[in-house]
Amino acid sequence: MWDMCHRIFLGSFVLIWIAGGPTHASSQLEFNPPSVVVKYGDPVSVLCSTSHPKPNGMGWEATIGGVSFQPDVSSVTWTVDKLEDWTIEPMCYISTVDGQSSKTLSVILYKTPDSVSISPLNHSGPMVEGTEYHLLCDIKNVAPLQNLVVKWYKGNESILNVTYSDLSIKSPGDVFPNLTITPSRDDDGAQYRCEAELDLGPEGPQPPPTVTSEPLNITVHSMPSNIQELEDTVIDVGSSTRLKCSSNGNPPPEFSWVFFRSPNVRVENKDAVIIENATGANIGNYTCVVKNYIGNVSKTARISVRGADPVCPIKLSTDSVVIKYGDEVSVSCINTASVEDMYWIIDSQHVNNTTWSVKSRLNWDTTARCTGIFLGIGNCHKPLNITVYKAPDSVSIFPLNHSGPMVERKEYHLLCDIKNVAPLQNLVVKWYKGDESILNVTYSDLSIKTPGDVFPNLTITPSRDDDGAHYRCEAELDLGPEGPQPPPTMTSEPLNITVHYKPHITSQLPERIPVFRGYPVELSCVAHGNPQPRIEWRYDTANHVTHAGGNLTVYEAGLYNCTATNAVETVFVVVVVILKEDYLPLIAGFVAVMVVVISVIFVFIYSIYYKNTKMGRYSLKDAKLASTPNGNVAQNGCRDIPLPMTKLSQPNINF
Ligand SMILES: *[C@@H]1O[C@H](CO)[C@@H](O)[C@H](O)[C@H]1NC(C)=O
Ligand SMILES: *[C@@H]1O[C@H](CO)[C@@H](O)[C@H](O)[C@H]1NC(C)=O
Ligand SMILES: *[C@@H]1O[C@H](CO)[C@@H](O)[C@H](O)[C@H]1NC(C)=O
Ligand SMILES: *[C@@H]1O[C@H](CO)[C@@H](O)[C@H](O)[C@H]1NC(C)=O
Ligand SMILES: *[C@@H]1O[C@H](CO)[C@@H](O)[C@H](O)[C@H]1NC(C)=O
Ligand SMILES: *[C@@H]1O[C@H](CO)[C@@H](O)[C@H](O)[C@H]1NC(C)=O
Ligand SMILES: *[C@@H]1O[C@H](CO)[C@@H](O)[C@H](O)[C@H]1NC(C)=O
Ligand SMILES: *[C@@H]1O[C@H](CO)[C@@H](O)[C@H](O)[C@H]1NC(C)=O
Ligand SMILES: *[C@@H]1O[C@H](CO)[C@@H](O)[C@H](O)[C@H]1NC(C)=O
Ligand SMILES: *[C@@H]1O[C@H](CO)[C@@H](O)[C@H](O)[C@H]1NC(C)=O
Ligand SMILES: *[C@@H]1O[C@H](CO)[C@@H](O)[C@H](O)[C@H]1NC(C)=O
Ligand SMILES: *[C@@H]1O[C@H](CO)[C@@H](O)[C@H](O)[C@H]1NC(C)=O
Repeated sequence: MWDMCHRIFLGSFVLIWIAGGPTHASSQLEFNPPSVVVKYGDPVSVLCSTSHPKPNGMGWEATIGGVSFQPDVSSVTWTVDKLEDWTIEPMCYISTVDGQSSKTLSVILYKTPDSVSISPLNHSGPMVEGTEYHLLCDIKNVAPLQNLVVKWYKGNESILNVTYSDLSIKSPGDVFPNLTITPSRDDDGAQYRCEAELDLGPEGPQPPPTVTSEPLNITVHSMPSNIQELEDTVIDVGSSTRLKCSSNGNPPPEFSWVFFRSPNVRVENKDAVIIENATGANIGNYTCVVKNYIGNVSKTARISVRGADPVCPIKLSTDSVVIKYGDEVSVSCINTASVEDMYWIIDSQHVNNTTWSVKSRLNWDTTARCTGIFLGIGNCHKPLNITVYKAPDSVSIFPLNHSGPMVERKEYHLLCDIKNVAPLQNLVVKWYKGDESILNVTYSDLSIKTPGDVFPNLTITPSRDDDGAHYRCEAELDLGPEGPQPPPTMTSEPLNITVHYKPHITSQLPERIPVFRGYPVELSCVAHGNPQPRIEWRYDTANHVTHAGGNLTVYEAGLYNCTATNAVETVFVVVVVILKEDYLPLIAGFVAVMVVVISVIFVFIYSIYYKNTKMGRYSLKDAKLASTPNGNVAQNGCRDIPLPMTKLSQPNINF
């Protein structure tokens, strides 16, 4: 590129002239124009003139267009049709009486770049916000570098000017200035360009020659922006709301939500959540996550429902279990969509399974609860109601502090002995008399879970009707609807009770009774009691005469004492018998005479009446019937007159 031969030659030439004489003569030379700026390949013409009154001669020394020494001239012109020598340094010289001097013309030969282009360095495709990139401006074949200004633009904004003023290379070359950028999200779509300007001074072309690159459109990818609009909200129970998540990024981000999925919540268009008819199950955190390949942002809004309590969304396969002691059991927590973890805590021990299974004997006081961690809600738990039961080993009934028969209207206690039953709070002791339920006893106020014995008692005051009654007690474990049906029940053997009561003399014996001489009276003494009383008549106290049995025939006056005795008591009734004379035969005889007399009078009257009217058949039988309406009395009178006896008791009266 550089013509070394010319340079050396030129240098030695100048040296000769400077050495040859005083140098201040150069001020005698002037150029017109004083300096030139020439586009590569353009013509150039410069006049060198002197103000010296008597020059000996002048000339141009140049690698091209040089003018040999011209005697006696005061000006000489350097002309090139096509200036293509980058190293050109034309020199005008003069010879005078004072000696020789010379002056070099300043020539700026320039060339606009063949091309200017902009491109990212070591990168293609979209840029990512916040990352450093280099843009390269490729400027080909430009000269001279020291006049080059590279201007970087973003849109219409000038952002950097680069100069090469420290370089003194005159021949054309390529330059690759670079621009370091750290694009922001707002730079997406920005246009960068670079401009190569040759700043050639006032002698240069105006405006300065400039070549601009095609613009470079940059695409800037950015992470989603901070979420707007999603805020903590308080809503009323039953109302609806819409939670919106606003964020943008490039490429457009994806939205996702983290919250407890209850049926009245739905996601609309990915970026909004609709809660309809809010309930306690909607209380919780709603987190929106916005994401693209560059990054993600999230924001949580807490939703409170005024008028509703938070809900623990755990479902158990059964809310309560009733287990026979020693039986197996298995209860599951049921998964819901938004559960993160779920396990059991059995007697404060972590069981890493959603199904809790017991194959061996369970403790009497085991506690179990299912714990879940739910999206948007967090930790909550649900207890399982466990009832471990055991039917009694035995149930028996007996009278307390008593044996043998009971006595009417006395108080007795029956004891029910229930051995080894659990839990007491579910125990119902049912007392029966025959088939009649008479008392139910519960122990619901006790919270003892381990098995034990109980001795409920029943106070009875039996009546005579209760003789032979069967009492029994039944131990029933009333375990609710989850328990076995019918409830486990154990019944005692029946207790037959015998009820004794004192005798009661039931025959109506008068206090005093007359007895006609010769007409004995039978006194009948009947008594009831349990056990059946023994009946005795006592009379003639002096001789202690007694008579066993209820019937006594009395002939004489005296005190007659009927005594009824059983295991309970002895009762008695005293009858006073008074002896009377017997007037009955006389009265009977008088009645018989009166009957005969009245019969005769009737026969007489009848016969008169019959004769006066008509003759008819006579029937003695008819006549007798007609004349004696009380025929039975007459007959009785004839037959039983000698011993009319009166029965003075009615033995079958009960009271
Ligand atoms: C670059 O130079 C121009 C004038 O040529 C000026 O207007 C602009 O402000 C400069 N830019 C910077 C970034 O210095
Ligand atoms: C960018 O240009 C500077 C000089 O302006 C240079 O030092 C640096 O090495 C260049 N960087 C690259 C990556 O070309
Ligand atoms: C650069 O963007 C402009 C508008 O902003 C558009 O007209 C031009 O076609 C884009 N150029 C490229 C290479 O995409
Ligand atoms: C909400 O309640 C209204 C009436 O109160 C009912 O019409 C509507 O179907 C309910 N929406 C949902 C999702 O349950
Ligand atoms: C529970 O089981 C899961 C896998 O089923 C395991 O990752 C976790 O560590 C277990 N946790 C405990 C406390 O055992
Ligand atoms: C959970 O329990 C069930 C039933 O007992 C059993 O089949 C299953 O293997 C258990 N799972 C784990 C992870 O222990
Ligand atoms: C709900 O969000 C609040 C803060 O926004 C946080 O303190 C709390 O732990 C979150 N609860 C759950 C269950 O994620
Ligand atoms: C557990 O059972 C008892 C009696 O059956 C009941 O009163 C109580 O409410 C139950 N508790 C739960 C949490 O279901
Ligand atoms: C005892 O309970 C049963 C039902 O279990 C009921 O039929 C009966 O009438 C109750 N007896 C009494 C005395 O309350
Ligand atoms: C009968 O049971 C009651 C409680 O129900 C108790 O107070 C009383 O002492 C018991 N009586 C006897 C005689 O055991
Ligand atoms: C109780 O009475 C029934 C019938 O009345 C009888 O079968 C049973 O043997 C009696 N039991 C006792 C212990 O006397
Ligand atoms: C007592 O007399 C009645 C009839 O008057 C009779 O039925 C009953 O058997 C007698 N009783 C005794 C113990 O002889």
